[in-house]
Amino acid sequence: MQNIDKDIRKSATLPTSFYKSQAQFEKSIESIFASSWLYVGDLADVNTPSHVYPFTLLENVLDEPLVISCDKQSNLRCLSNVCTHRGKIIVEKAAKMPLLRCGYHGRCFRLDGSFKSTPGFENAENFPSPADDLTEVSLKETMGLVFASLAPKMSFEEVFQPILDRLSWLPLNDLIYNSANSKDYYIDAHWALYCDNYLEGFHIPFVHPALNAALEGDAYSYEIFPYCNLQLGIAKEGEPCFDIPEGAADYGKKILAYYYWVFPNLMFNFYPWGLSLNIIQPLSHNKTKVTFRSYFYKGQNATGVENILDQTELEDEAVVESVQLGIQSRFYKAGRFSPSMEKGVHHFHQLITKFMK
Ligand code: FES
Ligand SMILES: [Fe+2]
Repeated sequence: MQNIDKDIRKSATLPTSFYKSQAQFEKSIESIFASSWLYVGDLADVNTPSHVYPFTLLENVLDEPLVISCDKQSNLRCLSNVCTHRGKIIVEKAAKMPLLRCGYHGRCFRLDGSFKSTPGFENAENFPSPADDLTEVSLKETMGLVFASLAPKMSFEEVFQPILDRLSWLPLNDLIYNSANSKDYYIDAHWALYCDNYLEGFHIPFVHPALNAALEGDAYSYEIFPYCNLQLGIAKEGEPCFDIPEGAADYGKKILAYYYWVFPNLMFNFYPWGLSLNIIQPLSHNKTKVTFRSYFYKGQNATGVENILDQTELEDEAVVESVQLGIQSRFYKAGRFSPSMEKGVHHFHQLITKFMK
């Protein structure tokens, strides 16, 4: 794939072939998703001692069977959920388990993934060997959210530290999941088109009248970090905004929202009431699942949150699905970037080409 010029004033966007081709889609899954940090769940759902929690990483796409184990000391690990004997899935559902026991021929593993015992192998040579242990996958936690990576190309800290540093004054370890304000959406478009749209506020005046009425358009700004970027939404007079303490980087600003995008498929929208986490899950080259998860800061209970987020989401879906149709045209090959308002999209396209190499 052709490089994206570092100079946004000269650069063209990704070619439509990236979004249209099944082969490029499959390559993006291996090159981008297998080597990035992916959200896998909430800490509160996987941290009961001596319990195991099976899941599939990016179902139907990466399709990797994994299991999170929580040992007696509450250490969390992410392990391959495939038995090293003949490959059966070991854990079928979350349960209390002092050992991981395969239901096919009785092989047992400790909760750290190491081989413990297996019947019938008394005469096997060079056995057991490290190949008989379960592979451990990188697992990290921040803000009460758990992330895994099959083969990380960058450290977890490189990805998340810019957010944690900037927002250290927020009660990020006291986020409480709110299922009533959480929802899945299914979109007929490529996952990266959905991200492209999120990464610029250029379209807000045209597409989101209600949101536009709350934002100070001239003050909207973009900041780029290695693996994430920030769009800072400044509130119009009379709109709700953060109460930022003295000494914080943004003290004195009337911030309506911090819109952080994390490569490749996560959006952390911090509001005065809490966090709206969006997870963009590719299903195929033209189908995407978008999950909105809402978390309130302890003691907060936002009213009307769902309506605003839902309305904005439906407006975004309509334009993204329209672009999905438009890029099938034989006349459209690529576009150009607004140097002032599409820095985030430019950043994303550069990361895509870097990972696709
Ligand atoms: S496949 Fe697990 S013990 Fe045989
Ligand atoms: Fe939008």
